[in-house]
Amino acid sequence: MGVIARYREHLPVGPATPEVDLNEGSTPLVPSRNIGRALGLRHLYFKYEGLNPTGSFKDRGMVVAVAKALESGSRVFMCASTGNTSASMAAYAARTGARAIVVVPSGEIALNKLSQALMYGAKVVALKGNFDAALDAVRDVTNHYPVALMNSINPHRIEGQKTAAFEIVDELGDAPDYLFLPVGNAGNITAYWKGFKEYQAAGRTTRLPRMVGAQAEGAAPIVNGSPVLNPRTVASAIRIGNPASWEGATSARDESGGTIAAVTDTEILSAQIRLANSEGLFAEPASAAPLALLFRLVRDGKVEKDAITVVVLTGSGLKDPDAALKNVEPPIELDGDARTLAKVLKL
Ligand code: F0G
Repeated sequence: MGVIARYREHLPVGPATPEVDLNEGSTPLVPSRNIGRALGLRHLYFKYEGLNPTGSFKDRGMVVAVAKALESGSRVFMCASTGNTSASMAAYAARTGARAIVVVPSGEIALNKLSQALMYGAKVVALKGNFDAALDAVRDVTNHYPVALMNSINPHRIEGQKTAAFEIVDELGDAPDYLFLPVGNAGNITAYWKGFKEYQAAGRTTRLPRMVGAQAEGAAPIVNGSPVLNPRTVASAIRIGNPASWEGATSARDESGGTIAAVTDTEILSAQIRLANSEGLFAEPASAAPLALLFRLVRDGKVEKDAITVVVLTGSGLKDPDAALKNVEPPIELDGDARTLAKVLKL
């Protein structure tokens, strides 16, 4: 079952909305085995969004945006993307026979994300400049031509993405104390906050989490309080200098009593390895940013030991192996028999 079927009564869909799904959502909330214990946190969970059909959380919002676009008669979809949105949009367009056009910052997105968009049959334009410039161009085109804008400024994207908050509450029985997630274009933090608030209004949770957003130090406009002209970070998914949902992010932060802070690339990569090494969860660099921030906040005594904490792992590590492989030992090249193997491995 996809998110539209699972959460129909909370979504802007009706009898005229076409049925679309790739069985997205219903991702596992994995309890930490080792990191929580090491940090002294008793209730640490990872919401493993990399298990969505195209490998990131984007599928939740995209399925609703695509269904609504089809309902309104649109057959051409367009987005700007650091990679995951384009992969997701291309997949749902392929499934529904629509035309997909994606604009990505040239040379700035992970190869595997690009391969997804191409394999799903999208027309891919690599535009010189960064994501913010690509989004400006896409907004302009979709304003002037009969093409549906599928970035998270499309409110249906936010509607679909809020289902992740519902799933967390449904599984825990209540909202957590802290929700950690990466912040790029800021649609996802906006969506989670909307989801938690709607569930509270519906009597499904008695409380709301503190929303804790992580940006990368070289791409931290919300933390700095002003746009970043040349955003830089190893976490290409969140290499964004002027988030479209800026207000949504600051409202979520301020209304929830949370925080948005920046972590360095070194912290991101070391959190990514630690997550993979000690939990068996391989997430892409952007997804490791909130874990890096959790490490820092725990060190500073800012997270209570008995707090229920959820870290959202937004995308699969398989999306961007190049970033990860720079930080692990390469395979041992060997030409030999079992004895040499045993010797080299010190068995
Ligand atoms: N994590 C991953 C893996 C992402 O791909 C993104 C955004 C984010 C976090 C940040 O989410 O933008 O809602 O604050 N990726 C977009 C894209 C920008 O084009 O795929 P956000």
